[in-house]
Amino acid sequence: MARLPPDFRFGAATSAFQIEGAPAEDGRTASIWDTFCRVPGAVANGDTGDLACDHYHRMPEDVALLAGLGLDSYRFSVSWPRVQPGGRGPANPAGLDFYDRLVDELLARGVTPWLTLYHWDLPQELQDAGGWPARDTAFRFADYAELVHERLGDRVEHWTTLNEPFCSAVLGHVEGVHAPGGRSLGEGVRAVHHLHLGHGLAVRRLRAAARRPLDLAVTHLLGTGDPATAHPADVAAARRADAFGFRFYLDPILRGGYPADLNGDLAARGIEIPVREGDLETIATPIDTLGVNYYRSMRFSGTDEQGATSDADGLPVTRALPHGGLPLTGLGWEVMPHDLTALLLRVSRDYPGVPMVVTENGAAYEDRPDAHGFVEDTDRTAYLSAHLAAVARAHAGGADVRGYFAWSLLDNFEWAYGYDQRFGLVRVDYATQRRTPKRSGLWLGETARRSRARRTAG
Ligand code: FCB
Repeated sequence: MARLPPDFRFGAATSAFQIEGAPAEDGRTASIWDTFCRVPGAVANGDTGDLACDHYHRMPEDVALLAGLGLDSYRFSVSWPRVQPGGRGPANPAGLDFYDRLVDELLARGVTPWLTLYHWDLPQELQDAGGWPARDTAFRFADYAELVHERLGDRVEHWTTLNEPFCSAVLGHVEGVHAPGGRSLGEGVRAVHHLHLGHGLAVRRLRAAARRPLDLAVTHLLGTGDPATAHPADVAAARRADAFGFRFYLDPILRGGYPADLNGDLAARGIEIPVREGDLETIATPIDTLGVNYYRSMRFSGTDEQGATSDADGLPVTRALPHGGLPLTGLGWEVMPHDLTALLLRVSRDYPGVPMVVTENGAAYEDRPDAHGFVEDTDRTAYLSAHLAAVARAHAGGADVRGYFAWSLLDNFEWAYGYDQRFGLVRVDYATQRRTPKRSGLWLGETARRSRARRTAG
């Protein structure tokens, strides 16, 4: 494997709603995911986040596990309705206490906290007031960011505003498969812009309030998107998918504007991004790090199953296709480590000057624990190893990539898939809440240790 830099960061990631449980404790109010879990058919098996990994009560044990594996960094998210119930007004000190203790626990064990402010759990009251399609939510987010920073800014250096705005906006408002379950392209586009605006406002507020140099970031879900064939209809479809799924997110933040071709594609559907004067400057406020989440890549075709290039409304077809002939994870996602190299190289070429960290990468597989609860997950271990090698190749090729967080520390609530899909480095037996590190967790920790040993050896 190509060498990673000596100070390369090795961590694992989680998010609040997926692990914490304790939905009504110490003043927490409902988030849109608490509500969505109650919609019949929305989540597999009718699963909810009510208990999840019971992390709210087992946090010290979980931090000890992560540190014991040998990882040096922990990416977690803060639950907005826990620290600012209802999404407005003063902070809830009891909610902040939990993250205060978490940060202290991490630091005491030599683990660097990598904090995400928003990983999809919008307070339900803000949804009732319009949610992300409403402009006001961006301002509410900046207030919330400042409240969290007031309490933790003395000890936390690494701050990520948003996790995967694409999923919040498109899965949540266009495809209807995530909370809040909307199905409107126009609402999704408004949500993207207001997420971006919230990000920019929060970056400005944190920068102004900072008591120490902060590393400010945003995390995007990215992949490559080649045309299915060299046919012009497929090339055009890949261009549209790239505009809507990739440049929609990176261009405003790193280049100061929305792509012209995207504006054209949306205009053809009668949709305009609701940009007001000054928004683009706010959104493009410089950040220090770009978080990249990578799971898989698709190909794009400009024809439907019947071979037509336009739909019933006369609009061009854009159809995502698998590559075929590749190994699949338990979720049926194709395993394509080479595309992670290509992706990181593309970002460093097209958006130069911003260091990257892979903030999520991992795989669900059907784990088979032995009698002691141990999982010999050679599949997941191979997945992580191949993707880490892909990161090293990108680094060797000139991409400034500084760390890698596996998704996820624990098996947890995998959104609409409920508890069926397990991504953890550590197995969670949900009946007993017993945690058992898997082979993949031991392997990643050992890899991190060896990398650090090289650093000390000079
Ligand atoms: C990402 C999410 C994360 C997890 C992984 C599998 O899109 O950020 O919470 O669900 O996918």
